[in-house]
Amino acid sequence: MLHLQNIRLINFKNYESLDLVFSPYANCILGENGSGKTNLLDAIHYLSLGKSAFSGSDNFNIRHGESYFALRGEFVKSEQQLQIQCMLERGKRKVLKQDGQPYERLSAHVGRFPSVMMTPYDTDLVREGSETRRSFFDNLISQTDTDYLQYLIQYRSIMRQRNHLLKNEGRIDYTLLDIYDAQIVPLAKSIAKIRADFTQDFKEVFQKHHNFLATDKEQVALKYRTHVEEDFETLLHDNRPQDIKLERSEKGIHKDDFKFLIASRSLKQFGSQGQQKTFVIALQLAKYDFIKMRTGLQPLLLLDDIFDKLDDYRMQRLTERISGGEFGQIFISDARPERTEQLFKNSEKVASQNNHFFYIHKGQLLEKSI
Ligand SMILES: Nc1ncnc2c1ncn2[C@@H]1O[C@H](COP(=O)(O)OP(=O)(O)OP(=O)(O)O)[C@@H](O)[C@H]1O
Ligand SMILES: [Mg+2]
Repeated sequence: MLHLQNIRLINFKNYESLDLVFSPYANCILGENGSGKTNLLDAIHYLSLGKSAFSGSDNFNIRHGESYFALRGEFVKSEQQLQIQCMLERGKRKVLKQDGQPYERLSAHVGRFPSVMMTPYDTDLVREGSETRRSFFDNLISQTDTDYLQYLIQYRSIMRQRNHLLKNEGRIDYTLLDIYDAQIVPLAKSIAKIRADFTQDFKEVFQKHHNFLATDKEQVALKYRTHVEEDFETLLHDNRPQDIKLERSEKGIHKDDFKFLIASRSLKQFGSQGQQKTFVIALQLAKYDFIKMRTGLQPLLLLDDIFDKLDDYRMQRLTERISGGEFGQIFISDARPERTEQLFKNSEKVASQNNHFFYIHKGQLLEKSI
C-alpha cells in the first residue's frame, strides 16, 4: 500500500502556503476555474516524480514575485513513513530529498512513489508529434524499470555530444564519432528491446481497458515503430554523410514512435474527439495497471478534470471504474463540485470509505469535509 498522508506547499504556483492532510482513499479537489486544482495535483506529481506533469521550465512553478518554491509530503509505503521534499530556488539546481537526505541523482527517485496523472491535455498524445508519445511511454517504463531510465539518460548524453560533433562543419573528428557510435549502438538496442517487449505486454492491458470503456465497438491497436534493428550499426554508419549535412543524428531511438490506430487507420486522422479521448483514458488506466503489476505498488491516481467531452455512456463506465474501489489513493479535481460529490457520496462501494473533499478558492483552502 502506498499513499500520501499530507502535503505542504510554499510559493508553489498560485499557492503562498498550504497544508493539507489527505485520505488514503479519494481526495476530491473542488473549486472554480483558476482556483489552483491542477496546481495542487502537479505539486503531488512533483513529490512522486521530482518534476512537473507539464512541460516547461521548473522555474515557472515558483510563485510570481518569489525566489523559491518548496514542497514537502509524507508518504506511507509498506507501512513505513517517508518524507519527500522538493525545493527550487531561482537560478539554482532543483533539490530533492528523502528523509532529509538529498538525492545525488534525481532519477533515483523515479519509480519509488509511482503515480499516474490524467489531464485534459492527454489527447496531445494523439494529436502531437512522436516526442509526446515517447515521453509518455518513457515515463511509464521508467517507473517500472530503473535500468531503462539510466540507459535513456546515457543515450541522450552521448547523442548530445554526437550532435555537437556533427556541427563542426567539414572538420569532423571521425575517431571520436567512432567512439560515440560504439557507445550509442548497444544503448539504442537495449532501449529498443525494452520498448518492444514492453509494448507486447502493455498492448493486452490496454486492450482490456479500451474494451471496457468502449464495449468492443471500436477496433483499436497500439504499435511500436523503430528503425533500431539488428543491423543498426550499419544504418547509423551509412547515414553519417546525411547526419553531417543536417548537423544532427537522424537515426536512433530518439526517432521511435508509437502508432495509435482505430479500425486500422490513424487515430489522429480518423478518430473523433471522444474516440481519441477514450483511447488515452484506456492508455492511462493501462499505465496504472501495468505499474501496479510490475512494482507491486498501487500508484497514486491523479485525475484532473477527466469528465470533459465524454459521452454519458463512457462517463458512466469511467465512473464505475473509479468508484469500484479497485484503485488505491485517488486525487480528483473538478470545477463542478456536485458531479464529483455525487460520484463519491452516492456510490455504495466508495461512500463508506473515508473520502475527503477540499474546496479551493484562489490558492487557499476554503473548507474541508469528510
Ligand atoms: N508561478 C505562478 N505564480 C502565481 N500564480 C500562478 C503561477 N502559475 C500559475 N498560476 C496561477 O494559477 C492559476 C491556475 O491554477 P490551476 O491551473 O491550478 O487552476 P484550476 O483550478 O485547475 O482551474 P481550471 O478549473 O480552469 O482547470 C491561474 O490563475 C494562474 O495564473
Ligand atoms: Mg485545472
